[in-house]
Amino acid sequence: MAYNLLKGKKGIIFGALNNKSIAWKVAERAHEEGATFVLTNTLLAMRMGELDELAKSTGATIVPADATNVADLENLIDQSLQILGGKIDFILHSIGMSPNVRKKRSYDDLNYDFYHQTIDISAMSFHKVLQVCRKKDALNEWASVVALSYIAAQRTLFEYNDMADAKAMLESIARSFGYIYGRDKKVRINTISQSPTMTTAGSGVKGIDRLMDFTERMSPLGNATAEECADYCITLFSDLTRKVTMQNLYHDGGFSSMGMSEKAMIQYHKSFEECDFDEKK
Ligand SMILES: NC(=O)c1ccc[n+]([C@@H]2O[C@H](COP(=O)([O-])OP(=O)(O)OC[C@H]3O[C@@H](n4cnc5c(N)ncnc54)[C@H](O)[C@@H]3O)[C@@H](O)[C@H]2O)c1
Repeated sequence: MAYNLLKGKKGIIFGALNNKSIAWKVAERAHEEGATFVLTNTLLAMRMGELDELAKSTGATIVPADATNVADLENLIDQSLQILGGKIDFILHSIGMSPNVRKKRSYDDLNYDFYHQTIDISAMSFHKVLQVCRKKDALNEWASVVALSYIAAQRTLFEYNDMADAKAMLESIARSFGYIYGRDKKVRINTISQSPTMTTAGSGVKGIDRLMDFTERMSPLGNATAEECADYCITLFSDLTRKVTMQNLYHDGGFSSMGMSEKAMIQYHKSFEECDFDEKK
């Protein structure tokens, strides 16, 4: 259902790769809510993905940019201001990638060039986007900037690897820049810490299906889907959340507040029953 929450608002959406991407769902919801926006991704992702299809269905324009490249971001912002015919009201940063995860380098055997890339792509790019916007005075007052994070920033999760460090930095950037941009321009900056979700980036996390089963059992409301994450993003882009800033907001069905649930305990207990059975054999 649409509520016209973003009527007349102009935005930039980073990170839609295919129709599983969280950014893809956000673009569809933002369109339904009356926003106009620019879609952006790397040239490589545009070649691999299906961004043209999304641009067509949402009336968006595509401007390619590598979010680690400041010149690309400057061009993106200049072009977006022209295309959208004015300053920007919302930005979604939905970008993450770890070459160490891709190349199966464990956390105690990281390749440091890859580590730099993980941090640059998944965290520092957020600072670069904000700094370029700030220098160009590209955001309207009360604009809302959201980046997507994961609970591995606070808690250690098996196999999340150097992405955990990147997410911790991403959330810190939201606070540090949130202070400056809020103070000077009333721009709000938040991160959403989303449940594990079966997307292209999500499938890169080893054992994602088991992790999703675990978090589903642990969360009283169950895992949050990509569509539900999009709904939450829309509320943060809307005028209904104008005093929310510098927060890391959990969108995870309650997982982050749980220690153990009945459903997870039952499953855990079953593994002992199997062990007892094996021992008796
Ligand atoms: N899927 C999950 O389980 C999950 C959970 C919590 C948070 N997140 C976060 O959500 C965000 C979106 O991921 P997703 O799950 O939709 O997967 P996705 O693979 O669809 O999106 C990741 C995007 O990052 C883009 N990207 C990579 N390098 C880039 C660069 N240099 N410049 C610009 N874009 C670049 C990719 O092209 C892709 O579009 C990421 O920040 C991810 O860490 C995902």
